[in-house]
Amino acid sequence: MNFSNLSFPDAPLIRTPPPGPKSKEYLDYQSLHESSAVSYPKAMPMAIRRAKGATVEDVDGNIYIDFFGGAGVMNVGHSNPEVIEAAEKQLGNLTHSLDVPNPARGSLVKTLLSFLPAPLNRVFFGGPTGSDAVEAAVKLAKYNTRRIPLIAFEGAYHGMSSGALSISSGLSFKEDFLPLLPEVHFVPYAYCYRCAFEKKPESCDLDCAKYLGHILDDPHSGVGKPAAVIVEAIQGEGGSIVPPEQFIPEIREICNKYDVLMIIDEIQAGFCRTGKMFAFEHTGTMPDILTMSKALGGVGFPISCTAFRESLDTWPAGKHIGTFRGNVLAYTAGNVALNFMVKNNLAEYALNLGQVMLSWLKEIEKDSKIVGEVRGKGLMLGVEFVKDKASKEPAPDLTKKVRRACHQHGLLIEIGGHYSNVARFLPPLILTEELALKGIEIFEDAIREAERSL
Ligand SMILES: Cc1ncc(COP(=O)(O)O)c(C=O)c1O
Repeated sequence: MNFSNLSFPDAPLIRTPPPGPKSKEYLDYQSLHESSAVSYPKAMPMAIRRAKGATVEDVDGNIYIDFFGGAGVMNVGHSNPEVIEAAEKQLGNLTHSLDVPNPARGSLVKTLLSFLPAPLNRVFFGGPTGSDAVEAAVKLAKYNTRRIPLIAFEGAYHGMSSGALSISSGLSFKEDFLPLLPEVHFVPYAYCYRCAFEKKPESCDLDCAKYLGHILDDPHSGVGKPAAVIVEAIQGEGGSIVPPEQFIPEIREICNKYDVLMIIDEIQAGFCRTGKMFAFEHTGTMPDILTMSKALGGVGFPISCTAFRESLDTWPAGKHIGTFRGNVLAYTAGNVALNFMVKNNLAEYALNLGQVMLSWLKEIEKDSKIVGEVRGKGLMLGVEFVKDKASKEPAPDLTKKVRRACHQHGLLIEIGGHYSNVARFLPPLILTEELALKGIEIFEDAIREAERSL
């Protein structure tokens, strides 16, 4: 597969160290007039002029290799020409329809249903963000079970609206707004590098998953019978954490045993990123409810969707509504993007390129004093930075330094993880091996620079 014509030919290209003078003007204007809650421009200071494939150009003419992908949205690449052509055609016809059927919506539903495993044969479009799909999934679970408690995982990120925030674990996001939803409980995810039970993967018996069984079983666990367990098949913001193969199936079995619904959140991992259409498909597990967003909008048109078993479709008209219940441009773009993914076998491409990148990163891990672990699946990769490999003390400041140096030299990356110490890669899946290698070289140089600063 040759995707090189989808990106700018000369990336990376740094003409002026970012932020250059034109970027500075935009950034200054933004900080004067927009809220201090704006965050990405503080981490990657620049203003963007345009973007193509796996490359982004700022207003000063610097061109970056994009390992960030608009936070995992741009699976088919920025400005994907097939998607843009279809969206442009749609633009003059119809752009807003609430949930009234139209050809674009019908086509997307048909395409989605052709990829979704058969039991998930009902789809529902709510508000345009991933958080809203999570809200809908939780409401659907509560409505069907008539139960209130929810169980989520340490390291989980499900969004920023109050319900989604309640089941997200990062305290810095939520501690100023408590209390949120009542009766939300967190259990350990299979984060084997920092195992909550201090076990080694080779000697553990999935103690973390078993602990979920324990709290559902023990009448003195203090946890009421939940409506649902919500889990990411591969954790994203938590630090690109790939659990052992049996973890998700074990959670499924426990949910079955205790008659609890299982929601799998594929908002970040879905749409070919990890080597399958959905990450849960690696595990042979079937959720009861699935959440999707991000890459579903093709090239960043906002849309989210839940899919679930028909038997759960018990709620009446209007139980979860919003003005922007789907978006016609996003239906069109999403439909073309999904077909592009399949036609170009992007799942397999992402899996293979991810393996190559992981092997380069593992070489870096070997000689680096600050790379604690590299991990990931497909093009959802993470590099966890520590001050010391033996103590595993997290190194968030070094991680920030690495990101800053990457930006200076033409590579965009994300940061996540429990301690904000994981460099995360979520590139467009049409990244070429050549750009991947150039990006990893910039990343390695940034690590060496951070090591020299110790
Ligand atoms: C797994 C997961 N769920 C939910 C969300 C929330 O999506 P949004 O930011 O569109 O509300 C995100 C966002 O990063 C996510 O990664």
